[in-house]
Amino acid sequence: MTQNPKFVILLGPPAAGKGTQATRLSEHLNLPHVASGDLFRYNLKNETELGLQAKAYMDRGALVPDDITIAMVLDRLSRPDCAAGALLDGFPRTLAQAAALDKALAEKGVAINGVLNIIVPDEVLVERVTGRRLCRTCGEPYHIKFNPPKVAGICDKDGGELYQRDDDNETTVQNRLKVYWEQTSPLIGYYQNTGVLVDIDGNQDIDAVTEALKAAVINL
Ligand code: AP5
Ligand code: MG
Ligand code: ZN
Repeated sequence: MTQNPKFVILLGPPAAGKGTQATRLSEHLNLPHVASGDLFRYNLKNETELGLQAKAYMDRGALVPDDITIAMVLDRLSRPDCAAGALLDGFPRTLAQAAALDKALAEKGVAINGVLNIIVPDEVLVERVTGRRLCRTCGEPYHIKFNPPKVAGICDKDGGELYQRDDDNETTVQNRLKVYWEQTSPLIGYYQNTGVLVDIDGNQDIDAVTEALKAAVINL
């Protein structure tokens, strides 16, 4: 029996742990991990028009305009592997993006099943951002203190080189946090109103957050 497609959103401020948890949860739910930030970084690495357009916004911690972002993510969701649904990370991030996603899913006769709202205090986020390192090959996030790789500078999964994101500095993160509170946090109320929001305490160790997320998705 084929199951209905499942669409689950990981919502949360910069460095809340969306990417870290998405790797684990996408395996658990057997859904593709669709991360708007990763799609922009992939385009940037390949020097596409879209990547170059997005770079200026990303470098200062501003949001890429809605029309560009919505078109990119809906295109990704239209690929065959998303027929079963998707685990969304970093999208939607504005009310306009949320409305566009609802509309696109409604046209397919489906809707968002759950929104997992990862809560972490701002002061904790700054330390998470500045210590983050990512794999150049697979994008897996690490942290020099909280989640170090087995060998410094090398990805555990594929031996890829670890690097620091251009936007992971103290100045840009302050702007990313401001943008989150102004433009993204209204989504909490938006999804509360449709009854799909679940709050998750993201200020505990990585495995404990994973367990809380797994418990939250049991009934989706
Ligand atoms: P994006 O790539 O989405 O960045 P973000 O939202 O700022 O989120 P992060 O990736 O920084 O954090 P995360 O929650 O994934 O945390 P992670 O698991 O890595 O977006 C980047 C830019 O692209 C935006 O600024 C914007 O310009 C553009 N963009 C993207 N989407 C857009 C959209 N929809 N609309 C418009 N523009 C868009 O963890 C962080 C660190 O903490 C890691 O080092 C990790 O090891 C560590 N860590 C994780 N969990 C824990 C824990 N429980 N305890 C201790 N450490 C932990
Ligand atoms: Mg991320
Ligand atoms: Zn890797």
